[in-house]
Amino acid sequence: MPEFDLAIRGGTVVTASDTVRADVGVRGGRIVAVAEGIADAARVIDASGLLVLPGGIDSHVHIAQDPGPGIVMADDFASATRAAAAGGNTCVMPFAVQPRGGSLRAAVDAYRAKAEGQCHVDVAIHMIISDPSEAVLGQELPALVADGYTSFKVFMTYDDLVLNDRQLLDVFHVARLQGARVMVHAEGYDAIRYLSDRLERAGETAPYGHALSRPEVVEREAAHRAISHAELIDLPIVIVHVSGREATEQIAWAQARGLKIRAETCPQYLTLTAEHMKGLGLDDPMAGAKYVCSPPPRDVQSQEAVWSGIRRGIFDVVSSDHSPFRYDDPQGKLNPRGKSSFRWIPNGIPGVETRLPVFFSEGVSKGRISLNQFAALTATNHAKLYGLYPRKGSIAPGFDADLTLWDPNKRETIRQEILHHGADYTPWEGFAVTGWPVMTIAGGQVIAEDGRVLSEPGRGRVLDRAVDPAERRDA
Ligand code: URP
Ligand code: ZN
Ligand code: ZN
Repeated sequence: MPEFDLAIRGGTVVTASDTVRADVGVRGGRIVAVAEGIADAARVIDASGLLVLPGGIDSHVHIAQDPGPGIVMADDFASATRAAAAGGNTCVMPFAVQPRGGSLRAAVDAYRAKAEGQCHVDVAIHMIISDPSEAVLGQELPALVADGYTSFKVFMTYDDLVLNDRQLLDVFHVARLQGARVMVHAEGYDAIRYLSDRLERAGETAPYGHALSRPEVVEREAAHRAISHAELIDLPIVIVHVSGREATEQIAWAQARGLKIRAETCPQYLTLTAEHMKGLGLDDPMAGAKYVCSPPPRDVQSQEAVWSGIRRGIFDVVSSDHSPFRYDDPQGKLNPRGKSSFRWIPNGIPGVETRLPVFFSEGVSKGRISLNQFAALTATNHAKLYGLYPRKGSIAPGFDADLTLWDPNKRETIRQEILHHGADYTPWEGFAVTGWPVMTIAGGQVIAEDGRVLSEPGRGRVLDRAVDPAERRDA
């Protein structure tokens, strides 16, 4: 009987800290050896000329959420995780949303049931708290954290999700007691409503109004407020989907003061601009709706500020914020109300499959970041931040055998026809990249190769996590 189930031979192994020529030996779904000359294996994959990286972990995706009446998300668990696998990912983290007035526990249970048996890659579920009632803060949230749902997101905007300052403070307090990880969507609700009302009254209802209704100052103010609340409670928080210069400056300022503020950005803020919401000269006046997401993409100066923040270590993770809606669909971007005003265009863009190639190409291939930074920002730091480390996020004995083989020289042009998501478009249509994930291995099994997904739904598990006891603070 061979010593290994799988040997990946002749590649260059890249982790957050090292780049080495080595073979990887896998047994029982785990990495058991990283060494020279691993040969005694049931299956050998020749990785000559390829990079062997930790499988991508995307800690911010929206899958099969209920966006409200008349609107349907374009991906269920099967299609989203199929796209994730094709795009070099081995784990994604979607959100169970508490409906206002409803039970958080019931929402989590129902969401988990939807995921079980459907996923191609492993899934770890965050929560979204929309209604921090006494029952949620006192019982449901502590019990769910103990059960392995150790992270949640709160919103400072959106009618059905926004928390006021007192609610944010109360939730932060419980997170501190329980050692839970809090993600914050930082955009100011009242300012957005004020601007949206004015734009609509002035007849500015086209998709570009979305960008005008959410300028950088709206994000900067909310980021500062979230940072202040976190300082007051002495709680580490993650400010997610940071879009531009102003919020980045707030986070850099907080970090320089020693505050435990962590940050996430996404490829859309590195490659798209608000101009895309104008439709870029396309005949279709609604085409800009394809780029409507919150916060909106900004401008080239802001892209550079975010790249600079990445290089300076201000950002911990680059996620997709995959939030897919079909474009040409009355239950998607072109719903009847969305045609009447930007306010009703569902927020979000598909990106789980394109996150890694876009970021690799713009980051590594263009010389902005190192391969090791890429591994940290797309896998290792996600695992560390959200309680999946040392099970996932690196390449060493004991880790899950979750690996992505990259051809750093392969040129590809992103097109809807080569993607696997449920959306009917990609915001990166025609985007040329250098560097491509040619094989995705999860738990020692090849799940995607050269754009073909080979796994069956149900291969991926729903993972439980545990908080680091050091993060649980009573006082
Ligand atoms: O526009 C976005 N980002 N939609 C998804 C929900 C969120 O705020 O992350
Ligand atoms: Zn958000
Ligand atoms: Zn999101």
